Amino acid sequence: MLVTRRIPEAGLDLLRAAAAVRLWDSDQPMPRAELLRQAADADALLCLLTDRVDAELLAAAPRLRVVANMAVGYDNLDLAALAARGVVATNTPGVLTETTADLAFALLLAVARRLPEGARYVRAGQWTTWDPLLLLGRDVYGATLGIAGMGRIGAAVARRAAGFGMTILYTARGRHADAEAATGARRVAFPELLAASDFISIHLPLTPETQHLFDAAALRRMRPTAYLVNTARGPVVEPGALYRALKEGWIAGAGLDVTEPEPLPADHPLLTLPNCLVVPHVGSASVATRDRMATLAAENVLAVLQGRPPLTPVPLP
Ligand code: DGY
Repeated sequence: MLVTRRIPEAGLDLLRAAAAVRLWDSDQPMPRAELLRQAADADALLCLLTDRVDAELLAAAPRLRVVANMAVGYDNLDLAALAARGVVATNTPGVLTETTADLAFALLLAVARRLPEGARYVRAGQWTTWDPLLLLGRDVYGATLGIAGMGRIGAAVARRAAGFGMTILYTARGRHADAEAATGARRVAFPELLAASDFISIHLPLTPETQHLFDAAALRRMRPTAYLVNTARGPVVEPGALYRALKEGWIAGAGLDVTEPEPLPADHPLLTLPNCLVVPHVGSASVATRDRMATLAAENVLAVLQGRPPLTPVPLP
């Protein structure tokens, strides 16, 4: 089996106890040609969201039985190509929910209370006195939070928001009675979410329907005092439109864990804006959660290779 990156030992130990593991022992993705070459005789692939698994890769890996993505999102997998070849796909839902919700809330608080600006101000030696007008932000307590996508992570963010006394709106294909009962959340149409929220937190998968859902028209519907938080997938937000929204004051600020492109180059226009906080896709990056993700991905690999049903399969078309 092939593991396409250095991952927590907990996952590797499980795999190594059962089979021979070839590891791309690096903190950088496998170059595509190397991936195609090393997958040639692999019966299992434990991969990351930075690896594209498509018809080309599957054709180069005829023995492959399972692709275990060490992520809950799986927009890097071509599901039709996997289905066509009868290869099982798995992801890691559930184990990263609370950790990712923590980061969404951390970003929300950080941009609302201007923490990055404050930290830069202190380090630059500009802190000379207490100033009644210094770095005034927005209250999170009592504000309205719009959650775009009420899946596991959206619901976990709603629980945190309820603790802050927030009014919670959400969009989803159907009603989420449990989240409504637990947090008082109310399902609304997308235009209402945009217009009525002080904060919007995105928890949608990347699909053709959600790609650039937050475009110029959507961002213009938001309040000039509102903040956008994205811990889902970068391309759900149209980056050029977001730059204009932040620069021209259509919205007040943004906290991004995910971007388009990813990684964001250091000279990207978004990084020139004081009201835009970007962190490097670390939503699930706690020690315990990354251990759980690696373990679950490994358990999925072993289940398929040993003829058992995978624990967390991705439904194939
Ligand atoms: C995921 O799991 O999809 C995240 O983006 C990385 O944890």
